[in-house]
Amino acid sequence: MTATKGLEGIVATTSSISSIIDGVLTYRGINIDDLAEKATFEEVVYLLWYGKLPNRSELNQLLSDLSKYAQIPQQVLDQIKLYPKDVNSMAALRTAVSSLALYDEEANDMTPEANLRKAIKLQAQLTTIVAAFARIRQGQEPIAPKSGVSIAENFLYMLTGKQPEKIAIEALDKALVLHADHELNASTFAARVTVATLSDIYSGVTSAIGALKGPLHGGANEAVMAMLEEIGTADNVTNYINEKLANKEKIMGFGHRVYKNGDPRAKHLQKMSQELGKITGNMNWYDMSIQIEELVTGQKGLKPNVDFYSASVYTSLEIPRDLFTPIFAISRTSGWTAHILEQYENNRLIRPRAEYTGPSHQAFTPIEQR
Ligand code: ACO
Repeated sequence: MTATKGLEGIVATTSSISSIIDGVLTYRGINIDDLAEKATFEEVVYLLWYGKLPNRSELNQLLSDLSKYAQIPQQVLDQIKLYPKDVNSMAALRTAVSSLALYDEEANDMTPEANLRKAIKLQAQLTTIVAAFARIRQGQEPIAPKSGVSIAENFLYMLTGKQPEKIAIEALDKALVLHADHELNASTFAARVTVATLSDIYSGVTSAIGALKGPLHGGANEAVMAMLEEIGTADNVTNYINEKLANKEKIMGFGHRVYKNGDPRAKHLQKMSQELGKITGNMNWYDMSIQIEELVTGQKGLKPNVDFYSASVYTSLEIPRDLFTPIFAISRTSGWTAHILEQYENNRLIRPRAEYTGPSHQAFTPIEQR
């Protein structure tokens, strides 16, 4: 038995949800470029769950179901009020999502109808949790979700209490489309491993949030912004990046396990970052990002991934840095839950083997002689 480090190149399951073939990403066979340009996030959620794009009445039904379940239990809101104010936002989200299960009577109902309903609840309620957490930690009252509006609009509204601008809603909506699913990424794999024991959907999504939190996965978007802030202005980019590369340090937002010739999602976010920079009159983050890309791609051949330009996009939308990864989680809940439902449909316990590298034939020493 020989292990493959990081399971690179191992095909661990079949899935009909999303594919990355020759560097092209599709959701249910539809190219991400088309979805980024033409679909709303809710259409994508429907596509991932049901395997086809919704017609008008199916989409309206989904919007109405998402609105119906968007309120979170008062007990969960009360718990969030007890969290330390400076707690890690992904740790807060992980805890709050785990708590949702305690107040859902059908948390352990494993029928397909109940699981689909819980997927809708999770998709709606993660948005409410992230916005409520962001306000509560600042001593503000959480804002109740609006009915009949998109997740992007609702999130920005619940965060600020103001009607968001059309361009902000469109930008966030596109970012949600781009982050919705990505084949067997680390957090989706974590979700599938968890529910393959026939554990419940809340446990699966809680596992996934824990996996997304790390800086080698979803946490990279916050790390990118931290880097841009540390660099400060475009004049400092060259020295900063050259020093990092000379020290063999990783540049966050670059590289990918699967894409070696570039992440197809990055160009959409780059374009959006540029457009938002022009609209807000602050091109600093975009200009720095472009320079960083030139240096890192030029010297290491590494291309930006989905996290790189999403950092400047979210900053232009005035979203606090530590909410970037929770927003990723809001979007990826659609993919996680689609994969969980797919896993339940044709389940087998996921239990690989390990190549043992420890000592062998060790004698047992009684405690008095150790
Ligand atoms: N900056 C500098 N060098 C890099 C980077 C980077 N961002 N990424 C990879 N490399 C180098 C490694 O140092 C390594 O070099 P070596 O062979 O000389 O040791 C080589 O490229 C291969 O890198 P690995 O880390 O082995 O590649 P792996 O496939 O395991 O990792 C990963 C992929 C985790 C995405 C990696 O590229 C990375 O750490 N990037 C930065 C973090 C990041 O942006 N994560 C978000 C990924 S997208 C997502 O999850 C949404």
